[in-house]
Amino acid sequence: MAHAPTAAAVTVAGPADRHLGHGTERRMHGSPNGSSRATTDAQVTGIDGARFRSVLGRFATGVVAITAIDPATGGPTGLAANSFTSVSLEPPLVAFCVAHTSTTWPRLRGARRICINILSEPQLRICKQLALKGGDKFADIGWTESPSGSPVIDGALAWLECEIENTHVAGDHVIVVARVHHLDQHHDGDPLLFYRGTYGRFSG
Ligand SMILES: Cc1cc2nc3c(=O)[nH]c(=O)nc-3n(C[C@H](O)[C@H](O)[C@H](O)COP(=O)(O)O)c2cc1C
Repeated sequence: MAHAPTAAAVTVAGPADRHLGHGTERRMHGSPNGSSRATTDAQVTGIDGARFRSVLGRFATGVVAITAIDPATGGPTGLAANSFTSVSLEPPLVAFCVAHTSTTWPRLRGARRICINILSEPQLRICKQLALKGGDKFADIGWTESPSGSPVIDGALAWLECEIENTHVAGDHVIVVARVHHLDQHHDGDPLLFYRGTYGRFSG
């Protein structure tokens, strides 16, 4: 029998930040006569960055906040990510991807444990705040401690306390594989969804 998935509507809610790449980079390549010429990513890889983002943007995702206690400051820090996925049940592994340009990733990587918070639809402000570079990432964000002290954000649908198991460099990102040590459901509600560069809500 053919598999017939139940259709679920995604209601979009205005323009939002886009992940997946950082625009079309220009690279300088030396020419045989010693001069340099600018080339675009499309010329280097054959794939235009805008097209890549627009095609991949048709894959609807949830959004997580990846948090930790920054070993340098002793305070909470984090970033928003939609590249999160489950990987393995035995052992319990999850994964996400982080851009090499992230200034928060070195802080998360240096922490003993990280916490992956699955964001709810009313947490759009928190998502946007954690996506900003610099500043006090946790200003006005309420949180409690996971069993090992990582930040569990108030209002998240669920959380997973993890230890980084492996990292794999993959182009302009690093793929992070993390082992789950503790996890639980938290608040009930609808998920925050990200689709074609906009946020939406699940109405299945
Ligand atoms: C919806 C959404 C999803 C995002 N997903 C990712 C992601 O999967 N990986 C990543 O490195 N950055 C992602 N970002 C960007 C980061 O949240 C953040 O902007 C970036 O790490 C820069 O901040 P930082 O320098 O504090 O790390 C996403 C941003 C938004 C708004």
